Amino acid sequence: MKVSASILDCDFLHLADELAAVVAAGADAIHLDVMDGHFVPNLSFGVPLARAVRKAVTVPVHAHLMVNEPEWLIEKFLPFSDLVTFHIEPAENPGLCLEIIHSAGKAAGVSLNPNTPVESLRPLIADVQDVLVMSVYPGFGGQEFSPEAPGRIREVARLIGTTGSKATISVDGGINPNNCAAVAEAGAHWVISGSAIFHSGNYAATIKAIRGTE
Ligand code: DX5
Ligand code: ZN
Repeated sequence: MKVSASILDCDFLHLADELAAVVAAGADAIHLDVMDGHFVPNLSFGVPLARAVRKAVTVPVHAHLMVNEPEWLIEKFLPFSDLVTFHIEPAENPGLCLEIIHSAGKAAGVSLNPNTPVESLRPLIADVQDVLVMSVYPGFGGQEFSPEAPGRIREVARLIGTTGSKATISVDGGINPNNCAAVAEAGAHWVISGSAIFHSGNYAATIKAIRGTE
């Protein structure tokens, strides 16, 4: 299982050092939690930070857009991201979101909140490269992992399996060494971890513990 580090809870006073340290510690990607203060009750960061992160790391950059009107915001992050993930809930035209991402040659992800029916992904599932299953309600780092998440991961895995989609499954929110085995067993390919890594005294040991045996 691959581990993507969410920098939302990193030490922004030393961002370059934090990025270097977490990549050296084995992070497979950097996860940017972009929050607009509307779709989620928090405002995080935008394009200037995405540009800086892109310059600082050679690992893939994944932009997680927790924003209303993703149709126009997506393109702002395309130059700095390998994967851009929007939420199905606020998207008026998810097909257009996919078109914008794919026309830039980037991978497209779609994310769903813990209370959004997995079935809502069916129209998009054949065309996305990743499904980001939220194991918390989005907006903040450091929240508790939802015990329903493994069941939702299995549901997404079934939808992917029965439709012939090639999408990977990512899980985001409250991931730590104690719950990642259940997430892997349910069929996740990627996990996103923020506070469990950045609040730990040893990024490499934490990433290793989250990744598990693979
Ligand atoms: C929540 C974000 C997650 C979160 C991960 O809205 O999408 O990426 O910040 O951080 P932890 O691992 O602290 O839950
Ligand atoms: Zn996220």
